[in-house]
Amino acid sequence: MVRLPIYMDNQATTRTDPRVVDAMLPFFTEDYGNAASVHAFGQRALEAVDEARAGIAALINVAPREIVFTSGATESNNLALKGGALMYRRQGNHIITTQVEHRAVLDPCRRLERDGFRVTYLPVDRFGCVSPDQVADAITPETILVSVMLANNEVGTLQPVASIGAICKQRKVLLHTDATQAIGKVTVDVESLQADLVSLSAHKIYGPKGVGALYVRRRVRLEPILDGGGHERGMRSGTLAVASIVGFGKACELAGREMPAEAERCRRMRDRLYEGLLDNLDDCTLNGHPDQRLPGNLNLSFVHIQGEALLMAMKNIAVSSGSACTSASVEPSYVLRAMGIRDNLAHSSIRFGLGRFNTMEEVEFTIEEVTKVVRRLRAISPSLALQAPG
Ligand SMILES: Cc1ncc(COP(=O)(O)O)c(C=O)c1O
Repeated sequence: MVRLPIYMDNQATTRTDPRVVDAMLPFFTEDYGNAASVHAFGQRALEAVDEARAGIAALINVAPREIVFTSGATESNNLALKGGALMYRRQGNHIITTQVEHRAVLDPCRRLERDGFRVTYLPVDRFGCVSPDQVADAITPETILVSVMLANNEVGTLQPVASIGAICKQRKVLLHTDATQAIGKVTVDVESLQADLVSLSAHKIYGPKGVGALYVRRRVRLEPILDGGGHERGMRSGTLAVASIVGFGKACELAGREMPAEAERCRRMRDRLYEGLLDNLDDCTLNGHPDQRLPGNLNLSFVHIQGEALLMAMKNIAVSSGSACTSASVEPSYVLRAMGIRDNLAHSSIRFGLGRFNTMEEVEFTIEEVTKVVRRLRAISPSLALQAPG
């Protein structure tokens, strides 16, 4: 028996793993010290933070002291972009990014434009990929920073960040990558990516919400956004969220250990979902790269149907239409638009996000339910009625 409702929106957020919750609890009730205090309570908190820092660093193959804790990837992206731009503005005022970044990259870029920086928003191909050659061509003597995400939150496409990293290193330009959707799902080795700044978030990998990190390469400096007690090597002031950081560390430890098997399991469930829907329904198109994408992501357009209508009709299955973070807006997804997908197809898109706690039984239920609802909605679709003979 499948337990309802089914949560299949793991790119929006994930359930906190019970093992993560267990690891966090003592830091609310017993070990509640401030990690900056010198007494025993503080020391215990600091040890736990150090341990978590080491676990997070190990997952992405960097040194623990290069990890700066933040409140999540939105803050990490803001710190990387604004902090980097302000620190290096004497060397130039040009930033390069892509049209398919998360709003937490695009909006800081827009603000920097208002503050006098020039930003190039590179286009992507129909799979959502940016070309390293285009990055190389866009770099000018004024370029100080390139920001390209590792995995897209809507369509799951993986960007060629290692090739872009080699170009940036050669041209002596800083590279930031938003790895929020990638960690724990695919191997992220910052050394081989040659990235200087990497944004991470705990709640996408079965950790708590409200905590994240920015990897800052040795010798890279950032202008802080928050002024205060000078925590985190002066880059991010504020009392450390010890329990959340411990949870983030535990989530990274579990991800490191369980990722190969989990990624394979998610890929199998995702592929079965896709096959099952294709077998049952005509006019379903895949958005995103056919193989260079996250194992648990499936973004489909169901022609002749509004994604929102499908969402509302499927009361038992939690999925997203477009990006969860912008679901208040009725505009078609800017990511799908940038990929050249027509507005009516973009409007009919649904994102399924499979994760650790999904089962094959849930996938089978979802195939049946989506098939039923799509057939029903198509039977009353005005765009189909217009095409009907007579
Ligand atoms: C690619 C990407 N970057 C940044 C964010 C923002 O992360 P957070 O919720 O930790 O601020 C998200 C979350 O939706 C995301 O998917």
